[in-house]
Amino acid sequence: MFTGRAWRVVRFGEPEDAAELQEMTWVGPSAGQVLIRVRTAGAGFPDLMMTGGRFPLLGAPPFGLGEEAAGEVVAVAPGSRFSVGDQVTGITGFLQGWGGYAEYAYVRENSAIRIPDGMTDEQAGGFPIGFRTAYAGLVERAPVQSGQTLLILGAAGSSGATALQLGKALGATVIAVAGSREKTEFCLGLGADHVVNRRTDDLTARVAEITGGRGVDVIYDPVGGDTAATAVRSLARNGRIAMIGLASGTPVALDPMDMLVRNYSAVGVLAIPNDDPEAEALVWSHLADLATKAAITTPVGRVYDFEEVPRMIAEQSAPGPGKSVVRVAS
Ligand SMILES: NC(=O)c1ccc[n+]([C@@H]2O[C@H](COP(=O)([O-])OP(=O)(O)OC[C@H]3O[C@@H](n4cnc5c(N)ncnc54)[C@H](OP(=O)(O)O)[C@@H]3O)[C@@H](O)[C@H]2O)c1
Repeated sequence: MFTGRAWRVVRFGEPEDAAELQEMTWVGPSAGQVLIRVRTAGAGFPDLMMTGGRFPLLGAPPFGLGEEAAGEVVAVAPGSRFSVGDQVTGITGFLQGWGGYAEYAYVRENSAIRIPDGMTDEQAGGFPIGFRTAYAGLVERAPVQSGQTLLILGAAGSSGATALQLGKALGATVIAVAGSREKTEFCLGLGADHVVNRRTDDLTARVAEITGGRGVDVIYDPVGGDTAATAVRSLARNGRIAMIGLASGTPVALDPMDMLVRNYSAVGVLAIPNDDPEAEALVWSHLADLATKAAITTPVGRVYDFEEVPRMIAEQSAPGPGKSVVRVAS
């Protein structure tokens, strides 16, 4: 049995009011999980949805916060492929109420990897969700082929900046859309071929200029709202939009008649594990491989202390570039 502190949602509301640091006890993990002593945990817009009661997959409080975490394995279930002492990063048991903003966390075995050589703690804590989501979007649900053009909305954010890198690793030409000069520079630093500042540029005109009027093959959309609706106008024939999320507050509104006439499709994307554990293990080994080769790297943004979690969550409404990460322990 392990005891320690964990940030938990005790009521829905503003993060400072909703989240409380509580003393908790972790028993040995059940089959399919490992228990880790957490060093770092990755953050994102979903934290704000969870504290506000707007996250579709969670019920009423209390529940733990933090979708992903990295650290040292302290307990395993019988038959585990991990051992005590392994350094791992993975998706936590947050859907069962046990999150990663905690001194200990349950991590789903089939959504975890040993931390590749050269990956820092901050990169490890922020690796799983963004890259598993990007993989779900760009490989499984709306596959982008080498040589195709990929438009990424919210490209400096947690989801967008990982998709940008995976898109480049898959051989796509990437157009990154972000909301400030600082963020477009950040996207160029991550390898974007073209950038569009959504606040100062005409998105439709810029995409037409970049693609010679053809449009883009795939849109990766963690943003929704008006920006996504505008982007859809730039989809090429047989194009597709991967619907990831709604950082703008509303999902993209689609017109079925427009989809029919212009021959494009829309797919929903949720980064949940494959039913087949072997297929899921292959996904993670592919991601670990790309990380080892430095073809993808967690785009670490601001690093927060453990005590700052409520403020960190509040700041996810207007985050700076990159992935926010919480340092739980050294
Ligand atoms: N489907 C899945 O499995 C999955 C997994 C992870 C996350 N998500 C979802 O993805 C969404 C984004 O999460 P995240 O962690 O990537 O958020 P994030 O790091 O905050 O990034 C979102 C980006 O959206 C942009 N944005 C915000 N409001 C906007 C607006 N009104 N118009 C245009 N752009 C706007 C911001 O960039 P600029 O200001 O630079 O434009 C921001 O960088 C959330 O809804 C989350 O739940 C889904």
